[in-house]
This record gives sequence, C-alpha cells and structure tokens, in this order.
Amino acid sequence: MPLHRPARRQEPDPAPAKTISTTAGELPAKANCAPNPRQAVLKSPPAPPSTSPRRRRDTARSLSSTHAIFSVLVVLLVLAAQFLAPRLPHELLKLSKTTQHWRAASPETTPRDPLLFKNPPTCPRPDQQVEFKGTFYKEHDRSMALVEQAKRVSNEFDFDADHVRKAVKEFIREMDEGLHTTGTELSQIPTYVTAVPNGTEKGLYMAVDLGGTNFRVCSIQLHGNTTFSLTQSKVAIPRELMVAKTSTELFSFLAKQIEAFLKAHHEDHYFSHIKRRETGDKATEEEIFNLGFTFSFPVQQIGINKGLLMRWTKGFDIDDAVGKDVCALLQTEIDALHLPVRVAALVNDTVGTLMARSYTSPGKTGTLLGAIFGTGTNGAYVEKLDKVTKLTSSNDSGAYDKSTGEMIVNTEWGSFDNALRTLPNTPYDTELDAKSVNPGIQMFEKRISGMFLGEILRLAIVGLLKDPKLPFLRDEHSAQNDVHSTTQIHDDSPIYNQWGVDTSFLSICAGDHGPSYQIIKQTLDRDYGVSAVSAEDAEAIREIAGAIGKRAARLAAVAIAGIVINTGRLNSPTAGATTEQKEGIAPPRGTVESSGKGDIPEEDIIDIGVDGSLVEFYPGFEDHVRQALREVEEIGETGEKRIRIGIAKDGSGVGAALIALVAGRVATGN
Ligand code: BGC
Repeated sequence: MPLHRPARRQEPDPAPAKTISTTAGELPAKANCAPNPRQAVLKSPPAPPSTSPRRRRDTARSLSSTHAIFSVLVVLLVLAAQFLAPRLPHELLKLSKTTQHWRAASPETTPRDPLLFKNPPTCPRPDQQVEFKGTFYKEHDRSMALVEQAKRVSNEFDFDADHVRKAVKEFIREMDEGLHTTGTELSQIPTYVTAVPNGTEKGLYMAVDLGGTNFRVCSIQLHGNTTFSLTQSKVAIPRELMVAKTSTELFSFLAKQIEAFLKAHHEDHYFSHIKRRETGDKATEEEIFNLGFTFSFPVQQIGINKGLLMRWTKGFDIDDAVGKDVCALLQTEIDALHLPVRVAALVNDTVGTLMARSYTSPGKTGTLLGAIFGTGTNGAYVEKLDKVTKLTSSNDSGAYDKSTGEMIVNTEWGSFDNALRTLPNTPYDTELDAKSVNPGIQMFEKRISGMFLGEILRLAIVGLLKDPKLPFLRDEHSAQNDVHSTTQIHDDSPIYNQWGVDTSFLSICAGDHGPSYQIIKQTLDRDYGVSAVSAEDAEAIREIAGAIGKRAARLAAVAIAGIVINTGRLNSPTAGATTEQKEGIAPPRGTVESSGKGDIPEEDIIDIGVDGSLVEFYPGFEDHVRQALREVEEIGETGEKRIRIGIAKDGSGVGAALIALVAGRVATGN
C-alpha cells in the first residue's frame, strides 16, 4: 500500500476566519486568541424616560436616529480597531492586553496557503496571551470532555520504563534462540556477508532496491576514500503489482526499469553491448555490471546471491513467489531483455545500511548495527560467527569466509514477539492486525513503522468519532469553536477508509507546536476532508499522534538496546573486527562527530547507521529512543552517550553495491 495517497480533490476555500462575534459566553483558558472588544460595545443603549405619546414618538424617532448614528459609529470604530489591532507592534499590544483581539487566522494564512508555515502574524506571543473571558465557547464542558478523551486514548499508548526493560530481556532471549534454531520469531538470518567495508573500496557497480513503496535503480561509483557518487532513478511500484497473481509480473516490471536506467545513464555501455550481441560476440567480463539486489523482505539466504522468500511484508502479497529464489526470478527477467547485468549479491536493506554506514562513517570503529525505521522496520548487526550455530553446525549451508570470525545477521525484528509476551497492545493494534494481509505476524513492525502508524492514528480517531456526544471534528454551531464556523468531517473523508491516514501526518502533528495548530488544521482541511477544525480538535489529534510516535520510538529503543547489550559492545567496544583492523589500514575518514554530551574516546563509540522516513522526518524520534535507552539499566546514561546514531541515507543502494563488489571479486576469483 503506497504511503502517499493521491491529492484530494480541492474544495473551495473555507470562509476566512470570522472576526465578529455577537454571542456572549466563555472561551476556555487555553484558547489561543484573546477576547473580542466588541462584546461590550454591542450592548443595547439604555431605554429613554417615559413621557407623552407624541413627544415619546418624537423623542423615540430622534433617539433612534441618534442611536442609529451612534451604532454606525461604533461599528465603524470596531472595524477600524479590528483592522489595526493585529498590525500594532507587539509592545503596544502589551499595553492593551485586556482589549486586544486576535484573529484565529489572518487572511494571508488561509488553510491552503504554504505561507502558513510562517508564524501567523496575528497571533500573540505566549507572554501576550491573556485569560479569555470572551464569547466564543458556550459549551466549556463539551471541550473538557474532548480533552479528557484525548488524554485517555493517548494513555493507552504508554510504554513505560518497566515495559521497556522487560521487552529488552525478551528481545535478547529471542536473539539467542534465533541464532541456533530456525523458524523462530526473530529469524536471525545469516547473510553470508562476513566483513564490513573500510572505505577504500573502488569501482562502478549497480544496485536495485525493492522494499516498500518504490523501486530504485542506481549505479554507484565508489571512489575509494570513503566517498561515492550515485546516480539513481526511482519509480513507485504500482499497487496491482504488489498483489499480482504471478511473480513474473512484478519481476519483469523490475527488469524493464533496469533496462530504462541503463539506456538513460549508461547509454554507451548499453548500446555497445547490444551491438556486440548483434554481431554474435559474447559479452566480456568487464562489460557485465555486477548488481547488488536489495530485497527488503524476509529471505532465507542460502548463498551470497541466492535466497528463498520466506514471506511478504509491507502489503505485498504474491503467493507464487514464496519459497522461490528471488535472485533467480530477477535474473531470468534480466536475461529475457538481454541486459549486461549479473545479480551478484542479495542484500537486505538493513545490511546495505550497515555496509554503507561503515564505508562512510567517521572514525575507526566499525558500525555495529544497520537499522531501518521507514515503511517497515528491521535491523542487521555484526555477530560473532561462533554464536551463529544454526549456520556453523549445518551441513546444508553455502560457502562463506570464516577468517573474520564474524557474520552480519539480519534479525528480521519486525516479527519480534509476535506472541505479544511483552509488546503493548491496544484495541487499535488489534484491529489493525486483524484487517492486515498478514495477521499475527510482524507485530513489532505494526507498532513501529511508517506503513502502520498512520493507520493506528486513524483507528483511534474513528474510535472517538463513534461517540456522538463528543465534540470532536464536529459541532453544532459556529459559537462552539475558535474558528467561528461549524466544524464538519465530510462523509468522503479518508479518515473513514483503511490506510486513509498517512504516517507523515504524525510528523506534521509532532512538528506543529501551536499555539493555534495552523498546520494541523490546514492538513486536516486539505487532505482529510475536515472543515473548520478547531484548535481543540487539532490539539486532541496532536496528543494522540504524539503518543503513538513516542511509543514507536521507545519500541525501537528495545531492539537497539537488545543488540548493544547482547553483542557485549558495552564491555568490549572494539569487539567487532573491521576490515581495516584485519588489514592494518587507516583510511582517510573524517573526524568523529561529538555526541554533544562530553567527549567520548573514539574506541568507546558504538556506531549505528539508520535510515527511513521515521528517523529522518519524525521530529524528536531519536530523543525518545535515547530517553528509553537511558532507562535500560545495562545501558544507563553512560552507555547511551557512547551510542552514536547516524543517518546512512540511501544506504541500501551503496551497501548493495559494496556487497556486489565483494561478491564480484569472489565470482571472478580476485
Ligand atoms: C522486512 C525487512 C526489511 C524491513 C525494512 C520489513 O518489512 O521484513 O526485511 O528490512 O521491512 O524495509
């Protein structure tokens, strides 16, 4: 299921926020805008004294015309004041605190105007906010009910320190179990990759990446000094191919993208190969691109370029591919198009991320873990070979290099604790799972990754909407909210459809710090069919979305903590050999980034490479992870400071190229 839905049909701009209110009432103290001075002036003038009917009529006439003139003057004055007030400098406004009026939105910040990302010019600074005794909200109790309900739902996502610690213990237990037994929850797949790169590798390689929403094809020039140049193309995978009847449909589409990429970016190479074929010559070894195939689904790897698909995840569901060698499926379609490409290595995106981070990361410490927190989630880490007993004691395993004493293991942690021994479980998690294509599996992933967080939020919102008495995303008349219009969720709102809420909305919520939540309101209006959203609606959604995001980050910390503790890196930081230690070289890497918390000696750093939309775009994700890491006794404040987390952007492409390089060397005997 693609995470980005097509843009919703544009609806007419809602009327600009109204600025005149004639109703009397109360605005809750937490409202963002100050009182309206007109409440006072719009009161009726006192009644005239009683006298003779005629005189009374005359007096009444003259009074009513005076009254009319007076009223017109007052209205004009009010309009002028209202026009000028937002434009007054803040200092002046401070002086008139009790009479100032702030509009909910200025005309230049309509819900569809990107200028909204600026601070709305008409809203007061926090020190200018005054307690509101105004007119907007009559139904204060209704607002309180919403606040309480939002809090109740967000509390359901709490995952406290105790739960984190229990889950870490379970993670370590499942790690060990997976290293000696097959078919366990944590698959712990040996990858046949036995060394991490050192930054000196050189050459031109190709890589493709199938793992979620997009298919990427790239060529990578490794410069041999920890840097590289990358050319890439990206195409969204059509939804129908994710659930195609046969794997041929998907894999022939992939091969066609490779062909298009070669024609566009390696024209000479491609056409000289075609010419050679036409004259009946065979392709030379140099002409063939070694391709690293990043395939980000659980695969039982039986060699560096051979692996049987165990199951699909992330919404893919093509039955006939399960149990087949995915490299062979791709190679068959590449050969059908006569492309000069050899699938040299099969790589999980986490392994690619680990390799890429190790190639580019500063300092001499080899990277311990590559992790993805994107559409899906998973991690691969450097394990001691003698602990991978299910490989070392098996007679069916393919050949691998034993000299480093290590192997990268793909944990497939998305399926950690499918039995829910320690994972949190809310009614929304249960419903999401029951309606997914793979109920009962990838339970960890379904609580952490981008494919699912939007859906969890959607289910929580729908849960609240089921209560007809709750003033949530709807109200009865314009006096009930701060935008002076009737809030309404439209029948065709994506909020009513499965997968209708994109996880990027959680990032938007976490990034909007108020005070009036303009960006959240704007997004709800533009993308989710809710008009005239009140600040309280936005705040309620923000509260729940924040709790879902925080829980995801704390769960992510469970996996990181489990691996850091179980590999013994806290006690023996250089336990993991890197190729440079083996070969005694010191490549010209950059300087070590400071963690910002005091200087940590380089050899004490535990390096982790991460990639994916959550780590990249969800505000505060790493902070939540770090907080939870500190709560794990074995790590604590000291251990947490030693953990360096760095983005390995597009790691899957570069990493796959690096593995293709090693595999290519093996294939050609170099
Ligand atoms: C897959 C993993 C992959 C992860 C991140 C999961 O759904 O099972 O193989 O590494 O997503 O892309």
